[in-house]
Amino acid sequence: MKQIKAIYPGSFDPLTNGHLDLIERGSKIFHELVVAILRNSEKEPLFDVTERRDMLAEATARWPNVRIDTFSGLLVDYVVHQKAHAVLRGIRAISDYEYELQMALMNRKLNAQVETVFMMPAEAYSYLSSRLVKEVFRLGGSVHELVPPEVEKRLYKKVRPEISVVKQGKR
Ligand code: PNS
Repeated sequence: MKQIKAIYPGSFDPLTNGHLDLIERGSKIFHELVVAILRNSEKEPLFDVTERRDMLAEATARWPNVRIDTFSGLLVDYVVHQKAHAVLRGIRAISDYEYELQMALMNRKLNAQVETVFMMPAEAYSYLSSRLVKEVFRLGGSVHELVPPEVEKRLYKKVRPEISVVKQGKR
């Protein structure tokens, strides 16, 4: 049987429980799943690529067929370079669909061999995004149930270093 390798690309700034849910689902249907962090994003990131990579590595250590990597340039070129067969993307709600369809079709135009596979994260995460996690946390809200513990810890260190470890998760 053909071993199917998929790439799950994204910014992951930071990783959320929604991403993690999708990684777990992907790890069950693909033989190998590479979570690939985009290196040269135009956005001003909160966490640098090394920090994002470390958080992803810690949070996904329990799945032996999941690997973390970074990439720059065109996603389809990276997929070919990795000898992968598919791109995995999550669709949380209808609002994601248009952007995701555009990307998938552009990637297909660039390389017709690269298939995009969409999966849905659990409904509980349908409203969750890295952007909202950062906004809520910066404004003093709790993200305890929205991100893995290693991400919450690093958010405190970076954004609210004055808060002691004891208080984490209590707000
Ligand atoms: O998590 P994000 O920010 O929605 O991920 C977007 C990502 C990284 C998947 C997308 O921006 C991407 O693939 N960038 C690489 C450059 C590229 O190939 N662009 C053309 C794809 S349409």
